[in-house]
Amino acid sequence: AQEVTFYEAVGGEETFRRLVHRFYQGVAEDPLLRPLYPEEDLGPAEERLRLFLIQYWGGPGTYSAERGHPRLRMRHVPFKIGTAERDAWLRHMRDALDELALPERLETMLWNYLEMAARSLVNAPD
Ligand code: HEM
Repeated sequence: AQEVTFYEAVGGEETFRRLVHRFYQGVAEDPLLRPLYPEEDLGPAEERLRLFLIQYWGGPGTYSAERGHPRLRMRHVPFKIGTAERDAWLRHMRDALDELALPERLETMLWNYLEMAARSLVNAPD
């Protein structure tokens, strides 16, 4: 039997490209989140998040080929992430996810993961 990865089931690279692009459009306009991003150009950050999510969900492993082990908790230490930052991050992700209109079961799997991951990266609790 052919095993279909989650990555393939949601539509492959194109789906993650749309999700993360829409997400960063939200970040670009967000007065709380935008100042956290060190680079003026959000393009490279967009690419890193896209490649990470693609790898996480069973697509090509380009993220680790370029960046090594994800170590997300460690990589977020330089940024002060409180519950307000977490909620803002999730709000833009929710908007981006809604626009994809994925089948409900897949949408729920992706959302549950993003919520869990965002909670785990809070490093400056109230
Ligand atoms: C990088 C903020 C949650 C995955 C970054 C960066 C910032 C940031 C400011 C640096 C941008 C760059 O140069 O790449 C936040 C905030 C979050 C959050 C405020 C709210 C909780 C998440 C979550 C994930 C994630 C939930 C994964 C599901 C990544 C990845 C990178 C990154 C993969 C690039 C790491 C690297 O290779 O250097 N994040 N993030 N972030 N974030 Fe987040």
